Amino acid sequence: MFQMLNRLNPDAILGLMTQFRADSSAMKVDLGVGVFRDLSGNTPVLDCVRRAEQNVLAGQITKSYVSAAGREEFNVSVEALVLGSSHPARTGRRTRTVQAPGGCGALRVGAELIRVATPAATVHVSDPTWGNHIPLLGSSGLRLERYPYYDAATHELHFEAMLERLDGAPAGDVVLLHACCHNPSGADLTAAQWQSLIELLQRRRLVPFLDLAYQGFGDDLDADVAGVRRLAEQLPEVLIATSYSKNLGLYRERVGALIVVSENESRADAVYSHVLQIARSIYSMPPDHGAAIAACILADAGLRESWVHELAAMRDRIKAMRTLLARHLQAATGDASYGFIERQRGMFSLLGVPTTVVDRLRERHHIYMTGDSRMNLAGIMPHNVGYVAAAIAAECNSATATATATARIA
Ligand SMILES: Cc1ncc(COP(=O)(O)O)c(C=O)c1O
Repeated sequence: MFQMLNRLNPDAILGLMTQFRADSSAMKVDLGVGVFRDLSGNTPVLDCVRRAEQNVLAGQITKSYVSAAGREEFNVSVEALVLGSSHPARTGRRTRTVQAPGGCGALRVGAELIRVATPAATVHVSDPTWGNHIPLLGSSGLRLERYPYYDAATHELHFEAMLERLDGAPAGDVVLLHACCHNPSGADLTAAQWQSLIELLQRRRLVPFLDLAYQGFGDDLDADVAGVRRLAEQLPEVLIATSYSKNLGLYRERVGALIVVSENESRADAVYSHVLQIARSIYSMPPDHGAAIAACILADAGLRESWVHELAAMRDRIKAMRTLLARHLQAATGDASYGFIERQRGMFSLLGVPTTVVDRLRERHHIYMTGDSRMNLAGIMPHNVGYVAAAIAAECNSATATATATARIA
């Protein structure tokens, strides 16, 4: 049976993690894998999570099954966290939410729902987008296409080109949008751009599928979902995949949810029945432990307040590193354009250099980032920022020198 299977290349990010672990240099810097790190380089268990976990364990009387939709109180709290408690889609009973195994699980269930509802639909994804979007959505059998979004070389959002491309998409197609803290670019839409996009989606009858993996990492829990809330107010159908890996630090517990907004209550019930069947046919039920912790934090005023503070601390640490790296790079290169790093949001920015430079940064300086030059700013520390900036300046200089020499020879 397995004779036909050839060995696949390792997943790019997981492969990079393995290489980093094997590197014995004391200077090594991990800007690759997308996890938050504190000033000691750890990905901590949040204090609110530790306390909630104790409550969960103390109150647990059974390990019996929950349901294909997961925990009801988690789903209700998540919906309120994302849409706000009195959002018209909620009061109009047009929303249905199911817990899913992480943001990835929610994205995959959403993709399966789209395939069941409109198998011929194309899903339009941003260029660039998070690497795992392609296999997650594509392996459900849906057709994927890219729309222009961001140019890593000029550090500019291609908003007009994005609108122009989506304007040509057939009605019923789906547009995957990063709700905030775009991965990998860190470049988000402004409020005015969200509004223009909403008008286009309405006019062209396109369905938005929002990936919300970083709520609270941009400005704050409410501001980061302003675009999502407006979309769900103004459009009849919206899908939202949420993740609590980053903002609650629950990575390995696999906590996420799929929120679906439908045109009316009876459509919402029909959609819900399909979502439950999809979940049942893939993994039957989502894991409960992490969702129980998240539900406990969201329901308890004290724990929730601690979470808001801890989340602000994670966000501020990343913002501080953005400022520091931008300043060090500007000082090391004399190039003011590195200010883009400070202006962008969330955990990532694209340095905007060719793969050859990414390779040299790894081979010569032990600085690890993905091939597209995505940097996780949470991997920058006050003690290594000077080293990273000097290495980037050296390698970018040598790349420019090589390009100039090649041009002269040509
Ligand atoms: C853009 C984006 N979406 C979704 C996810 C899914 O996260 P998880 O499945 O770990 O909850 C991630 C995680 O890195 C992400 O960056």
